[in-house]
Formats: sequence, C-alpha cells, structure tokens
Amino acid sequence: MQENKPTLSYNAAAMEEAAQIMQIRARGERPLAFVHSYGCQQNVADGEKIKGFLEQMGFSFTQEAEEADFILFNTCAVREHAEDRVFGNVGALKNIKRRHPSVIIALCGCMMEQPHVAQRIQRSYPYVSLVFGTHVIHRFPELFLQALTSGHRVFSRGEEDEDHQIHEGLPIHRDGSVKAWVTVMYGCNNFCSYCIVPYVRGRERSRSPEAIQEEFEGLVRAGYKDITLLGQNVNSYGKTLPSPVSFAELLRRLDQVPGDYRIRFMTSHPKDATHELIDTIASGTHISHHLHLPFQSGNDRILQEMNRHYDREKYLSLIRYAKEKIPDLSLTSDVIVGFPGETYEEFLDTVSLIREVGFTSLFTFIFSPRQGTRAASMPDPVPAEEKSRWFQELCAVQEEIAAARCQAAVGTVQRVLVEEEGKYKGMLAGRTDGNVIVDFPGPASLIGSFVPVKITQARNWILTGEWLSGGNKEI
Ligand code: SAM
Ligand code: SF4
Ligand code: F3S
Repeated sequence: MQENKPTLSYNAAAMEEAAQIMQIRARGERPLAFVHSYGCQQNVADGEKIKGFLEQMGFSFTQEAEEADFILFNTCAVREHAEDRVFGNVGALKNIKRRHPSVIIALCGCMMEQPHVAQRIQRSYPYVSLVFGTHVIHRFPELFLQALTSGHRVFSRGEEDEDHQIHEGLPIHRDGSVKAWVTVMYGCNNFCSYCIVPYVRGRERSRSPEAIQEEFEGLVRAGYKDITLLGQNVNSYGKTLPSPVSFAELLRRLDQVPGDYRIRFMTSHPKDATHELIDTIASGTHISHHLHLPFQSGNDRILQEMNRHYDREKYLSLIRYAKEKIPDLSLTSDVIVGFPGETYEEFLDTVSLIREVGFTSLFTFIFSPRQGTRAASMPDPVPAEEKSRWFQELCAVQEEIAAARCQAAVGTVQRVLVEEEGKYKGMLAGRTDGNVIVDFPGPASLIGSFVPVKITQARNWILTGEWLSGGNKEI
C-alpha cells in the first residue's frame, strides 16, 4: 500500500530569490529559457512543470538555444540512440557557452538518474552547471538558485526516501492550447527485462483521484479538447492508494465532467488491461475509441524472456473482445525487434500478430541494451544488419496494413479535432478519434474545434479531406 507521505511542494522563497537574480542578470529584460524534452509524453509533461517554474521566475521561452540565458535538456534513457543524441547535442553547447559564458546549461530527466551518466557529465562536460533527475523536479527552484549562487556545479538525483513521493501543486506551463497531458501515476513496477524505466523513474505511485479530477476539470474549463492521461502502466492505477480505485473507475469519473473534449490514455499494459476497461471505453461519452496496447512480441518464449506476464493468446483474446465491443476501435502498439536470442521464426510470430490485429500504427524499435537491465547481459548472437533487415520487413508489412486501413476510410465522414495549421498555406491539420492525422483546407479559426471532415484521399497513413462546412460548424 502506498504510504501516506505528505505530497511534495516546492521552495517558493528560493524561486523568488532566483527570479530576482535573473532579473538583475538580464538587465531588466525578461530572461530567456530554451527547454527541450526528449522521450515520451511523461517527460514532456515533466518539461512543462519545469517551464512552469521558469515562467514564475520571470522567464520567457525561445526556440533558439543561442539566445537563451538558460538552456535545459530534459533527457530520455530508453534506447542508446536517444542517449547518443543527447550527448551529441550537449557537446554542441560547448560553443554556445564559449560565445556566451553567462548562459546556464542544465540537464535533467531519465538519463540523469543513472549514476554512470551523471559521472560522465561531471567528467567530460564541465560547462554543464546543473544536473538533476526525475525524482527531484519539485526541487528545481532551489537547485537552480544553488547553481546561480554557489559557484559550484550542482548534481542531484532522487534519494531513497523521495522515491515514493508525489509532486502536487507544481506550476505548469502548457505548450499547446488544444492538447494537454495529465500524469495520473508515476514510475513502474514491471521490470520488463529490456527496460530502463523502472530504474530511472522508481516504483509505481498513483496520484489521488481528487487531485487528478481537479486538474482535469481545470483543463476542460480552459478549453483543452484532447486530454491524455499518462502513466507507464495506467491499468495498475490506484492499486496502491489508501482507498484503491481502478483505472476504469477513474476514467468513468472523468468522463462525467461536462464539456466538449476527448479523453485518451497511455500506456496500457496487456497484463493488467481488463474487460471492465474495454466496457468503460465502449460506454463512455468522451473516451476516444483508441487503445494503445503495446504487445512487444508475438512469440510466447520471447514474451516470457521479456518478463511481460501475458502470452500471445491472452493478448489476442483481449483484442477480439475489444473489437467486438467497439467495432470502430483504433489500435496502436509498440514492438521490439531483435530481442536477445530471438530467432527469425520467432520474429515471424510478431509479423503474423501484426497481420492478425491490423493496427492503425505501430511504434517499432530495434532492441537496445540498457546497462543494468537483465536483457543487457543475455547472449545476443544475431548481427545488427540482420536485425535491421527484420525491422525493414516488419515496417513494410505495417505500412501495407496502415495504407489499407487509411484507404478504407476514404468516403467516410470523420469527427476531426483541428489542432494546428497544416504544412501548406490554407491547410489545417487535425486528428480523428482513432488518432489518425487528417489534412484539409479550412480557416485557422477552426483550430480547437471538432469539425466534420469527409475523407477524400489516403496517402500512406495520412488522410486528406474536405471540411463539411454547411450547417453546424462543429460536431
Ligand atoms: N510502459 C510502456 C509499456 O509497457 O508498454 C512503454 C514504455 S517505453 C517508454 C516505450 C517503448 O519503448 C516500449 O513499449 C518498448 O517497445 C520500447 N523500449 C523500451 N526499452 C527498450 C529497449 N531497451 N530497446 C528497444 N526498445 C525499447
Ligand atoms: Fe518499461 Fe515494462 Fe514498465 Fe513499460 S511496463 S515502462 S516497458 S518496465
Ligand atoms: Fe520516457 Fe525515455 Fe524516461 S521514454 S520515461 S523519457 S527513459
């Protein structure tokens, strides 16, 4: 059971003092911050909290690192490629620091919870003055103040006793005005054998349903139209609360909030996804008919080696139930190719599962060994080039499926939430309930509305359509 520890707040006095120092340093102008979050939506949501602090300290935001007074990379550790990108980009900051010695360079996020990474930063990147991990975001104002005033580089990772605490009441600077994230739980207990997340985000802890509902209602009032509930395994939401609440119950509560909006959630873990959850989606008013349910592999031996706690048949039977209850359900998933010891025949089970389910889209990854995880020390005899061929083979199959699904949508009328202006002048970009992108011509005044769009063309996985502007503007 989750202990009743006080939720963490932040040090407002430190924030005030840092704000004053920055004001003096910026000579009366608003100081500028460049903040970039890598990785998953959870990290983006964390980045919005740090931006909330910075905004309260008087910062404005810039997309140009070169002109910033403060540069922050919020990092991701999930694959080697993600880490390499961060190291490459941090290396490039050396020249900016040389040209603007007063700029403060900081790194935070999942990579920084790994001791070997923090050590490498300490050793090889002396111009980085502040490094902090995912567990100490609430301490940002005082850490920033220390970096400004102590004359030392500041390093802070989660202490043991902070692992079970929840950050409530932090300011948030949301990047958009149509889509928003609400973190419902932190951490992960699953220890899938390939995954670094439990090591860098700690054990599962759920926010109280009351705190979530308050934030959610605020977003609906503020006019947000697409609200995604976030957690690494949302289906185990609430199990550790003093009065346990299931994720399906939480969804039903939020669905009752009056307004014109759509609820999404991610990520669901197949081992904990229930018929109750599917029934809740089916009977909901605002819950999008989209389920992101990562299966990772279609082969039972590999699933067991991955420590996923379900098998192919359990996954497929859940999908069959979901399709029966929600015929227009859009399914998306994550898959890993080339897990250590995977054979070509085992890989083909993944391909056949993809064909059987017919996903709208897939996030496909080649296995990347993560230091400290069980899979990183498993024998991995298949050469990288071979894995790469399997990967291409799988992507080709999925492209074929996605193209056929998109083609089948031609001629239908979809309820599209208009998110932004499109790439080309006069075009708008939005998303269907099933999370498929639709481009269509229309006025920018439609941004933020749900409109009927007749699909006229499918190009790979992007749809093009016409806004049915007669009658009601919105649907
Ligand atoms: N919690 C989610 C779940 O269990 O489905 C996903 C979290 S993870 C941030 C997102 C995806 O990254 C995973 O679903 C998996 O496909 C992929 N991933 C995680 N670790 C990986 C690794 N070591 N190599 C390749 N892909 C990995
Ligand atoms: Fe990683 Fe597995 Fe947790 Fe997802 S459920 S974050 S893949 S350990
Ligand atoms: Fe997300 Fe990457 Fe961390 S995927 S939880 S930012 S390791």
